[in-house]
Amino acid sequence: MCGIVGAVAERNVVQILLEGLKRLEYRGYDSAGVALINNDALSVVRRIGKVQALADAIDDNNGKGTTGIAHTRWATHGGVTEANAHPHASEGRFAVVHNGIIENHKPLREMLKAKGYTFNSDTDTETIAHSIALIMQTTDDLLSAVQQAVKTFEGAYGTVVMDKTTPNKLVVARSGSPLVIGLGIGENFLASDQMALLPVTRRFIFLEEGDVAEITRTSVTIIDSTGEKVEREIVESNVEHDAGDKAGYRHYMLKEIYEQPHVLRNALKGRITADGLEDGIFGQSSNENADDIFAKTKYVKIIACGTSYHAGVTAKYWLEQYANVQCDVEIASEFRYRKSFVPANSLLVTISQSGETADTLAALKLAKESGYMSSLSICNVDGSSLVRESAISFLTRAGAEIGVASTKAFTTQLAALLMLTLAIGKHNNMSEETNLSICNALVTLPAKLEETLSLASEIEDLAEEFSDKHHSLFLGRGDQYPIAMEGALKLKEISYIHAEAYASGELKHGPLALIDADMPVIVVAPNNELLEKLKSNVEEVRARGGIMYVFADQEAEFESDETMRVVQVPHTYESVAPIVYTIPLQLLSYYVALIKGTDVDQPRNLAKSVTVE
Ligand code: G6P
Repeated sequence: MCGIVGAVAERNVVQILLEGLKRLEYRGYDSAGVALINNDALSVVRRIGKVQALADAIDDNNGKGTTGIAHTRWATHGGVTEANAHPHASEGRFAVVHNGIIENHKPLREMLKAKGYTFNSDTDTETIAHSIALIMQTTDDLLSAVQQAVKTFEGAYGTVVMDKTTPNKLVVARSGSPLVIGLGIGENFLASDQMALLPVTRRFIFLEEGDVAEITRTSVTIIDSTGEKVEREIVESNVEHDAGDKAGYRHYMLKEIYEQPHVLRNALKGRITADGLEDGIFGQSSNENADDIFAKTKYVKIIACGTSYHAGVTAKYWLEQYANVQCDVEIASEFRYRKSFVPANSLLVTISQSGETADTLAALKLAKESGYMSSLSICNVDGSSLVRESAISFLTRAGAEIGVASTKAFTTQLAALLMLTLAIGKHNNMSEETNLSICNALVTLPAKLEETLSLASEIEDLAEEFSDKHHSLFLGRGDQYPIAMEGALKLKEISYIHAEAYASGELKHGPLALIDADMPVIVVAPNNELLEKLKSNVEEVRARGGIMYVFADQEAEFESDETMRVVQVPHTYESVAPIVYTIPLQLLSYYVALIKGTDVDQPRNLAKSVTVE
């Protein structure tokens, strides 16, 4: 989704801004732009398409400036056009970039038009630029103008403003869209994601909700939502600088698929052994002790979006089967707008790769006001809004994930949720046998994933048969049903083939009507107690002329024939089978997308981090 980079320095900042935008490309966008102040002159360059198109349009005339802002836009209000791309300017003097949505942009637009401002775009963002210009008629202080302006905005914003008449200054405001200030030596930076600034600094200040800040080359002044000047903690980032490199892989997605054994080892390190879970592994930012909370927990509510939601659905099976605790899972955008009941001793669990998903953050905020005993976030980004706003947090340690289609973030979330199952189960009569079996399963999981990755060439071969298909059906049962959902999501995200997932017991209630030779049916078949039921479902498909691709346990006795192609998956513990079976489905979608020639890492219309509603 939209990305922001800003810099105020003594040197020309254009390359810093372009490099920052390139490092944010993974978030998904459709146009890009940059505004620079050079000797009191303001230049704005914008292009639709890739950041490279913007870089190609920059030359000696328009590419110089010691203060600048840059943006990648993911269209919400107004189509994908150069006129709608950011930065937006007013009076040829002020330039603005913005992430989020100004929901009351229509009345603001009318008011500003009545005051004589001309709009050059269909965006909500342009109202910010003209609002600042209007207020600056009565003050010469940009910081105070931004403070006044944001009081008139409804909705979400992370915004940066500059004024060519005060060239060594950026003013920023955050409400609902993250912003981070990067501290340099004699120069300072700003971005919507620290990743953009890693080549220039590792020292960051994460702005909080309602903060407005003024950034110059040598100072950072932050005013909080109450109007008080505040000091915020400086955080030294430990995110890998080279996380932006493909390390020889053709795509980030493939690199991230192959990284899974390694990141799973990291995720488990110091947290679990074959003998049990280590103590105190669920960190907290409040005074609450996580283990005390787990001991009291009678109900778990999981909230998430997208792939993270599928991790949550899998965890429901685990928490109810192994930890003997009731659990419900809900999509954040649904939860935040409906009345729901909160049983006594309820624990809220949010799951998010980025920790910045607008709907998940809003759901957390709502839940905190509605009587949940405590909140736990399972998240991949330390210092993210979700981590900071939850009472307890557990980092998945997947490392930076660049591919829009989530892979390693998902499998590490699942490992985290299995550890949570152990932590809660310990207080709910989980047998020692179950505890040890899950611990063993997790400890041996990275090696099992390595073995499973060796199926890649077989799956690549199988993917050939998909490239001309328009629809597909994914089937699973029990805790493999959410894995089928995730497999279908991966395929549609990156190959644009319509894919639906069904709990295979539901086949005869509708989807069987779709079965023919043009509708491949992908079946996830581990060797568990539902195997015989699943085999009956497979026969139902076969009897109707369906073509199946079955990912089956080596011991499940499935054999390839003219209607069924079987890929044998290494035998594994039942508890971690959902994690193991995720791998072949990731590889399948990757190789299908490769054959179809789609933009694997930045699929059309999608964003990595969805920071607007
Ligand atoms: C976007 C991404 C998905 C991700 C979802 C939730 O849709 O493209 O890959 O699963 O957001 O993101 P989160 O960061 O909250 O896990």
